[in-house]
Amino acid sequence: MKVFVVGAGTMGSGIVQAFAQNGVEVYLNDIKEEFIERGYNNIVKNITKLVEKGKISEEDKNNILNSIHKSINIEDAKDCDLVIEAIIEDMKAKKELFKRLDEICSEKTVLASNTSSLSITEIAAATNRPDRVIGMHFFNPAPVMKLIEIIRGIATSDETFEKIKEISLKIGKDPVEVKEAPGFVVNRILIPMINEAIGILAEGVASKEDIDKAMKLGANHPMGPLELSDFIGNDIVLAIMEYLYEETKDAKYRPHIMLKKMVRAGYLGRKTGKGFYDYK
Ligand code: 3HC
Repeated sequence: MKVFVVGAGTMGSGIVQAFAQNGVEVYLNDIKEEFIERGYNNIVKNITKLVEKGKISEEDKNNILNSIHKSINIEDAKDCDLVIEAIIEDMKAKKELFKRLDEICSEKTVLASNTSSLSITEIAAATNRPDRVIGMHFFNPAPVMKLIEIIRGIATSDETFEKIKEISLKIGKDPVEVKEAPGFVVNRILIPMINEAIGILAEGVASKEDIDKAMKLGANHPMGPLELSDFIGNDIVLAIMEYLYEETKDAKYRPHIMLKKMVRAGYLGRKTGKGFYDYK
């Protein structure tokens, strides 16, 4: 089996790592060499840590890295069994990419999107193979988190669904089946929870440290909501809230003004060195 991942950012490179660690030949594709190198170097760093911790051998490390091919040419996707798109959350960009992939790829190729909330049906409509288009939503950090949400678009076939379920199990994940709806399951619960935490902070009900401590010790979450927002990226959190709000027009999904302000200031979280906390 050969898998092709488009987008070498945090999610794309994490997805590549998840496949490579489970013996699957995988391509790491992006439009610029520097993006590919950054993603690849992150994978090398993570795998090296696993060796240092004694979880895998030096030989395992070499096998993992040898199963990763760097690709700057989208045409390399042509005879892959599965393509996973992990580019920016922009419907127009995704549709253009899927249209191109549909032209390039062989009949057998399934086209999956790692979108965190957008409509699989709409993405699939840009292709002539909507039965072979599906959502495959990974969670950050992709090599560690067990869940994959498998999302069916209106025309996704049972065969495509079963294939993706099988592949998810093969790489050690535990998938759930989700019908298409804004935010799917996890983000529809998680992101409004983070938005609520921001509201609590803005109202001065508790300090950021205490809000995070409260949810870690009171609800057993591995990270507090504000720490998690910085980890996901405050821009991503805002984009998902905006999408939930736009699709449903339900006031309960209105993004908090403080979240908007943070994003406007460039306080995006870990990736910019500043968010609710300082990372410099
Ligand atoms: N690659 C490989 N292994 C990794 C890794 C990576 N990128 N990142 C962490 N790990 C491993 C570590 O090696 C460690 O392994 P070990 O226990 O076998 O030694 C294990 O994961 C735990 O890592 P750490 O000890 O460094 O740190 P923590 O115990 O604090 O765990 C965490 C880190 C797994 C990130 C944990 O804090 C966590 O689960 N946080 C919540 C993450 C979460 O909610 N993610 C979902 C975000 S929402 C999303 O992604 C959807 C999107 O659409 C917005």
